[in-house]
Amino acid sequence: MDFYTIFILMCIVPSGLSRILDASPANVFSVLKYGAVGDGSTDDSKAFLNAWNDMCGARYNAPTLEVPAGKTFMLGSVVFEGPCKSTSVRVSILGNLVALQMSAWGSDRSKWISFANVNGLIVDGRGQLDGRGDQWWKCAREAKPDVSLWNDMSGCQRPTSLAFHACKTIQLSGITSINSPSNHFSINEVDGATISNVHLTAPEESPNTDGIDITDSRNIQIEESIIATGDDCVAINGGTSFINITNVACGPGHGISVGSLGDKGGKEDTVEEIRVQNCNFTGTTNGLRIKTFAAGTGYARKIHFDQITFQDVKNAIIIDQYYCPHGQCEGGASSNIRLSDISYTGVQGSTTELVAINLNCSSTVPCSNIFMNGVNIVADDPGSTTSASCSNAQGKAISTIPDVSCLEA
Ligand SMILES: *[C@@H]1O[C@H](CO)[C@@H](O)[C@H](O)[C@H]1NC(C)=O
Ligand SMILES: *[C@@H]1O[C@H](CO)[C@@H](O)[C@H](O)[C@H]1NC(C)=O
Ligand SMILES: *[C@@H]1O[C@H](CO)[C@@H](O)[C@H](O)[C@H]1NC(C)=O
Repeated sequence: MDFYTIFILMCIVPSGLSRILDASPANVFSVLKYGAVGDGSTDDSKAFLNAWNDMCGARYNAPTLEVPAGKTFMLGSVVFEGPCKSTSVRVSILGNLVALQMSAWGSDRSKWISFANVNGLIVDGRGQLDGRGDQWWKCAREAKPDVSLWNDMSGCQRPTSLAFHACKTIQLSGITSINSPSNHFSINEVDGATISNVHLTAPEESPNTDGIDITDSRNIQIEESIIATGDDCVAINGGTSFINITNVACGPGHGISVGSLGDKGGKEDTVEEIRVQNCNFTGTTNGLRIKTFAAGTGYARKIHFDQITFQDVKNAIIIDQYYCPHGQCEGGASSNIRLSDISYTGVQGSTTELVAINLNCSSTVPCSNIFMNGVNIVADDPGSTTSASCSNAQGKAISTIPDVSCLEA
């Protein structure tokens, strides 16, 4: 190419490009058009918020906020606030997002990217969210050098990577989240969500990096996902109902937990209609866990675990109604949270601890209608056999290994 050809191309190509860009559908709001740089080190928060505001205010049918592929956008704490004009809005995350370094954060450190009061929200794409958790984990460890106190966030509040609050009908799919400072996703006061094909990872020893935390929400489906973190894969907290978890691979981490319910002050919590199906646990400290503080009232009922496999899991099936993470609760108190209608069917695999089933229920409100069928949990060590421990539980166990003495055969 000679100089003149290059010169002519330089004049023609940009106008041609802008025609192509203009030809993109009017309902697509690319963050690049709002000045986002995407070099991984410029704070693009303002551009994202401006793009969101225009998209959310658009009367088009299903407008889309687009985060283009091939770039990395750095964001501080951003809140995408609804309600939006259209009944359905989409955020297409094709590129990568990286959190502002910890030292540059302001005083509100509760959430990195959050959506509030948005209905009919679709968040999809193959992009990756990097919460840059290592700086925050270090802060947590320095604030509370005693590992058993990590759950206590005072001293070093850490943001959730992606939070949904007061939303209806969400679809979240495809994205990857790595190294969240605390929870990867939190779902709070949401009615209706499908979370599928997400991949959440953080190192096994990272503090409080739950995969998905659900509180005060209903009609939630989590499916076809991989969750490998330092804390619970999914935590189902108080105020939840109709939660399905299907085809999820969990581990490392602390397993799938209902709770902790109640608290050391005696809070009321309710949980019902939970289905965990076709899930695998590999190298987790717990498999299927229900935990309640000794103080607390309410109930957890209609909880079904079906077709579960364990490999190298520590506490495979555990109900702990004396949960007290930092030894700061009333000694010897008995929980008033009533657990009932809990089933374990088609549950098999291996444990590292010999007590494979531990039902430690409340002496004031015993667990009722626990049902086991087709449970077979063996020891990792081929020379050892597993056992069950059971107190204050009533129900039925058929074809269950190890034998659970307090349940009817
Ligand atoms: C959960 O699964 C049950 C049984 O398969 C189904 O009836 C229900 O609609 C599912 N709930 C959600 C929120 O997808
Ligand atoms: C669980 O493990 C089984 C057997 O290895 C496999 O067929 C299945 O796809 C796994 N499921 C998930 C959700 O990883
Ligand atoms: C049940 O919980 C009580 C109170 O924390 C504890 O002392 C006991 O060891 C637990 N039992 C089992 C089998 O874990």
